[in-house]
Parts: sequence; structure tokens; C-alpha cells
Amino acid sequence: MAYVNMIEMMNQATKGRYAIGAFNFFNYLTARTIIETCEERKSPVILQTSVKTVRQLGTAHIMDMVLPLMKKTSVPVALHLDHCKETEVAKQCMDAGWSSIMYDGSSFAFEENVAKTKEIVAYAKKKDISVEGELGAIVGVEEDIVVDDHAGSLADVDLSVRFTAETGVDAFAPAIGTAHGMYKGKPKLDYERFSDIRGRVKTNLVVHGGTGLADDVFRRLIQIGASKINVSTAIKMAYFRGMKASDGLTEPLQADRMMEKEVQEVVTHCIGVFGSVGKA
Ligand code: 13P
Repeated sequence: MAYVNMIEMMNQATKGRYAIGAFNFFNYLTARTIIETCEERKSPVILQTSVKTVRQLGTAHIMDMVLPLMKKTSVPVALHLDHCKETEVAKQCMDAGWSSIMYDGSSFAFEENVAKTKEIVAYAKKKDISVEGELGAIVGVEEDIVVDDHAGSLADVDLSVRFTAETGVDAFAPAIGTAHGMYKGKPKLDYERFSDIRGRVKTNLVVHGGTGLADDVFRRLIQIGASKINVSTAIKMAYFRGMKASDGLTEPLQADRMMEKEVQEVVTHCIGVFGSVGKA
């Protein structure tokens, strides 16, 4: 049984200066392809669901779909809920069997974010579930969460220290200028801020908005302390590339293979750059 929370895999990654890919899936094909690609390359992996996916498919169906895959695989895999703003949905997923939760209270005032995240941490601890928290606003569109560029504010270093200490989260996503979805121009990341935060907090650090970042950007972020990198849009785009390429086919299984191949390429590339290959 390789189904775990993400604490140990992130601890190892932080120590070994590599990062775990956290890939969003939205159906059986994407979940299976992500897991199998990582298994072939002996890489630990984090499977993520957005709240939108949870709402559309339901917690029971998602667990029925991925639990057998996670139990069977030989590599450590965590099932993580991405960007959850509602306490009730987070608890519902924890009760259904998710091993990890991101409670995203970043749109609330600092004190409220701390209080709500703490409530989730207390609930999660009883079930050995890991929790990720966020500070500052990561711009762009993530599923149904839209953050306007202008409203985007980066995580304050002192507040990051307080947030992680007061909430006790296992993973921390400070806003440093990355964005969800496709970047409009060249991404402007605040590496110095990320480094300062790394130097002052004990918590493992997460980078959101992996799609569209260059390989050398990933390497630099990992060097200065990122141990989980989120990739969602690239998976969706790969899926659609496969779908478009299968236009005109009459055999659905052949179409599935084309989508698998595209998703596999994205995951293979990411875990290669993140340095997690061979770490499981
Ligand atoms: P991208 O969609 O830009 O890859 O971002 C993913 C993400 O950060 C999910 O939380």
C-alpha cells in the first residue's frame, strides 16, 4: 500500500533538493496515466483534485476510481484536495479518504485565514492527513477560482513565519508571482522572497502555477527550497491535444491511447526536471 499523506515525501524532497509533482486529474484516464508514468520512473507523486472535480464526480466515485490504483502502485502517492475554500468540502473529502488537503484561506484577512486553516489542521491531524495552506494571492484562474492580476499580492515574509507557526500546516504555498493557467507574458517571480521565506520557516514549500514555467525556473525554485510543484493546465492541454489528434478515428480505445500518450509526455518531462525520478 503506497497510499500516503504528503509529509514524508515532501520532507525527503526538501532534504534531497528535488520536488514532487502534484498533478491535477479529472477522470480515470488521467489518474491512471499519472500514476503509471510515475511508477515506471520510480517517482513519488501527488494526485490532486480540484473542488470542481469533487463537485462534479462526487467523493465516493473519485475514491472508487483511484483507491485501487493507489493501493496497487509501488510508489508513494498522496491524494490531495487542491485550493479548497470551504471548510465543509475539505471535511467531506477528509472523511471520504483523501490523504491531504489544501485549505486556501488566502482571500480572507490574515487572522481569519489562520483561524480557518487551524480548524482544518485540527480535524486533519486526527486522521493523519497532511494540510497545505496559502498566503498572498496566486493570480490567474484555477478551476472556478478567479483572481484578478491587479488584486494579486505576494506573501509577506513575516506573516509567512507567523502563518506557518500558528497554523501548524505541513506544506505552505506563499504567493511569489506564479499564476494559474497560461502566463500572459514572461512570469515575474520573486525568488528573493521565496528564499527569505525558506530561510525563516520550517514548513515544506509549494509552488503553484507550474504550467508555462521554464525548466530553468523550476530548477532555480527547487534549489531555493520548493518541494512540491503544482501542474494542472498542462495536463488538461495534453488531454485535449490527444483528443484533437484522435479526430476522425472510429475506435475509442485508440483515442484513449492518444490522450494517454500526451499526458504521459507532460508528466515524464515534469518529473525529470523536478528531479524526483528514481526517488521512490
Ligand atoms: P497551472 O494550472 O498553472 O499548472 O497551476 C496548477 C496549480 O497551481 C494548481 O493549484
